[in-house]
Amino acid sequence: MSPKSTRLQGRTTLVTGSTGGLGVAIAKALAAEGAFVVVSGRNKERGDVVVAEIRAAGGRAEFVAADLGAGADEVRRLAREAAAAAGGQIDILVNNAAVWGMPEPTAEVSERVLLESYRANVIAPFLLTGELAAAMAERGTGAVVNIGSINGLIGGDQSALYSSTKAAVHSLTKSWAVEYGPRGVRVNAVAPGPIATERVVDIADELAPVLARIPSRRMSTPEEVAAAVVFLAADDAANIHGAVLSVDGGWAAV
Ligand SMILES: NC(=O)c1ccc[n+]([C@@H]2O[C@H](COP(=O)([O-])OP(=O)(O)OC[C@H]3O[C@@H](n4cnc5c(N)ncnc54)[C@H](OP(=O)(O)O)[C@@H]3O)[C@@H](O)[C@H]2O)c1
Repeated sequence: MSPKSTRLQGRTTLVTGSTGGLGVAIAKALAAEGAFVVVSGRNKERGDVVVAEIRAAGGRAEFVAADLGAGADEVRRLAREAAAAAGGQIDILVNNAAVWGMPEPTAEVSERVLLESYRANVIAPFLLTGELAAAMAERGTGAVVNIGSINGLIGGDQSALYSSTKAAVHSLTKSWAVEYGPRGVRVNAVAPGPIATERVVDIADELAPVLARIPSRRMSTPEEVAAAVVFLAADDAANIHGAVLSVDGGWAAV
């Protein structure tokens, strides 16, 4: 078997948080376009399954374990080892891994959770981009796709922490587009609304009132969000810099 398309043939990608949820669909979609994919997360067992599934579908992938909450040395090690696993360089970085949980009143968010969220959602993408986009810029070509959220665009009751990390991701996307764009590196973001991943399907009842008032009246599938990531990573988006593309069934428009 071979990949379904050659749109990303010869490109190498790192997808953080691709051992579960949306990241799996992104890794598979990039591999299906011919890219070599470095799958990453903390859980090697789940990572190995994703790699095996990509290979079974005719794609190319390797797993590199990393804990993005463990500090700068660990994030930089991921950057080095991912590039080595991909044959020397990463052409496309997808900053997808993030910590999210149920809404919580601001006063009840512990310092531990606050720091854990900022480490995984903001500081790790910041450091990874600093390593990998800088190397792309030296080569004069590359793409970064950040996964933001509808929560970074609108306010949410009891979601100040998560929403603020995602607003930071959107802001970083624009600043990095300005910083790296002139040297051939495009930086964009996808801002999903609710995605029908395993964890979200479990809380579908709580989302029902929201879904009832958005234009599409439904969640996105992981594949629909992954398609937007592929679009922004590929040459189809050659002159798109600093965009935050909503894939949210129209929620941001309501
Ligand atoms: N699901 C939604 O409805 C939704 C909506 C809008 C935006 N998003 C965004 O979409 C992205 C993916 O969300 P998801 O729902 O797919 O999340 P998820 O199901 O919780 O999966 C999170 C992924 O990130 C990894 N991860 C978490 N903490 C990590 C850490 N400290 N170090 C390394 N990897 C870590 C996990 O891997 P390990 O467990 O192996 O470490 C897993 O692969 C996130 O950026 C999220 O903010 C999701």
